[in-house]
Amino acid sequence: STDIATRAIGIINQLKDEEGPLLPILHDLQGEFGYVPQEALPLIAQALNISRAEVHGVVTFYHDYRDHPAGRHVLKLCRAEACQSMGGDAMAQKARELLGIDWHGTTSDGAVTLEPVYCLGLCACAPAAMLDGEVIGRLDAEKLEEIATEVRL
Ligand code: FES
Repeated sequence: STDIATRAIGIINQLKDEEGPLLPILHDLQGEFGYVPQEALPLIAQALNISRAEVHGVVTFYHDYRDHPAGRHVLKLCRAEACQSMGGDAMAQKARELLGIDWHGTTSDGAVTLEPVYCLGLCACAPAAMLDGEVIGRLDAEKLEEIATEVRL
């Protein structure tokens, strides 16, 4: 919508003359909207005089940026090595089944977004997860089922 475009342009104009403005712009857009709106990409490209493909490449390279609004809850599962070796794969599989979504997906009721994360610093309690910023260690099937129920309440 034009409202999104107007707000996006405000943010872009504030930062475009700084050194290395792209990441700060994406950061502030996500802060403002909760995601990086698609319609902002051509505006950024134009303001910074780079191609849309470049902007898109950066948005997708950094796993922290989303291109759509997140669910009410965000569940992050650790996909790094220590957690993998402690059954992280099975937990990831189970989470995707329970929620019916894939990585970066959001359930159709908007309850939860599932995201991979690469080490939460909780390797001693692998496999690890984070729900809305709260860390969860020693994730197992039972805890996952509780989480899947809880996020839908
Ligand atoms: Fe998963 Fe460190 S590898 S928390």
